[in-house]
Amino acid sequence: MAKRISKEVSLTQYQVNELDQETITLIEAAKKAALNAYSPYSNFQVGAALLLDNGETILGNNQENACYPAGLCAERVAFFSAKSRLPDAQILKVAIVAKPKGQEQFKMATPCGSCRQVMSEYENNQEQSIKVYLTATDGSILESDSIDNFLPFKFSNKDLFS
Ligand code: THU
Repeated sequence: MAKRISKEVSLTQYQVNELDQETITLIEAAKKAALNAYSPYSNFQVGAALLLDNGETILGNNQENACYPAGLCAERVAFFSAKSRLPDAQILKVAIVAKPKGQEQFKMATPCGSCRQVMSEYENNQEQSIKVYLTATDGSILESDSIDNFLPFKFSNKDLFS
């Protein structure tokens, strides 16, 4: 008989004054990084800031190209930068922010599918899960305990090798 298989995903919504200073600083770093995005085609500025277990913060922003598919999202720029320089570092947190160029307010944006897949790969390789912080529509912050919340039925190396 058909059986329903389900997974629960959840995010926690915080007001900024409920967050710890480390996370607020990370979100502010992502906002600064977004302002340096190279996005002349979409005029959409995305910033990502990673906090590593050695205390370092690694930044990324979206890098576009006249050949559109050659561009890369902020999250992948940041994750590839971190893992290429510090392959053994664990990623503790990622803050992701986005806004249209020329607007002051950061708005709700969740990571695209390819970025979810890339972030998931690195989360699978480390002991602790990666916390994600996004800006909610009303300016509050959404927290996820894991990349899994964004990719519940994920493809991973387990699918390849088992
Ligand atoms: N973008 C990101 O940087 N991250 C995402 O998760 C979604 C989209 C960028 C890609 C492109 O430069 C612009 O936003 C519009 O899609």
